[in-house]
Amino acid sequence: MSGQDFSVADHVETAAFKSALRAVVGSVSIVASGQGDDRRGLTVTAAVSLCVDPPMVLACINRSAEAHDVILRTGAFSWNVLSADQVQLAERFAALDGSKGASRFSPADWGEGVTGVPVLRQSVCSFDCRLQDSAEVATHTIMIGAVVAQSHDQDKVPLIYSLGRFGRIEHFESAK
Ligand SMILES: Cc1cc2nc3c(=O)[nH]c(=O)nc-3n(C[C@H](O)[C@H](O)[C@H](O)COP(=O)(O)O)c2cc1C
Repeated sequence: MSGQDFSVADHVETAAFKSALRAVVGSVSIVASGQGDDRRGLTVTAAVSLCVDPPMVLACINRSAEAHDVILRTGAFSWNVLSADQVQLAERFAALDGSKGASRFSPADWGEGVTGVPVLRQSVCSFDCRLQDSAEVATHTIMIGAVVAQSHDQDKVPLIYSLGRFGRIEHFESAK
């Protein structure tokens, strides 16, 4: 990826940066890829929409994550936005219960998307994506997906993460 190189003196201090990032509120999702015993997935907050026409999304995936190479090899991934009652699943796919590989998928109900990726049936919404492009940046790869199919349950509320804790939105100001 093209970009300007910065010297170390141009960077904010890492600990201060991480501390400030704790205040950022993120939607919690599982990015998943592969089929059968090859399935791999991880919990992410760094997944967002990129544009709506055409429908595209992006996810920033650590190169050390099990799912990373599977996404690049298969050319597809799903972005599954978790609901407020799915904290255990978020912890499981962040390896906080020690689980690894395809066994991570066993407690939940997963279907198969158009691209062959695992799609979570009880998500708030799931996007089935063909990998359109990718860009390596430092420790991560930005995975850019073209959305080929989706599901959306309007009755579910999203799980959020901030200040090192999972939670749910309690109150919205009324729309003006
Ligand atoms: C709330 C939360 C958000 C996370 N967001 C990301 C993310 O956006 N990208 C990423 O690569 N890892 C993220 N992680 C870390 C991965 O979920 C974790 O390192 C996972 O274990 C990596 O998968 P692996 O065990 O298959 O290597 C997040 C973890 C948590 C708990």
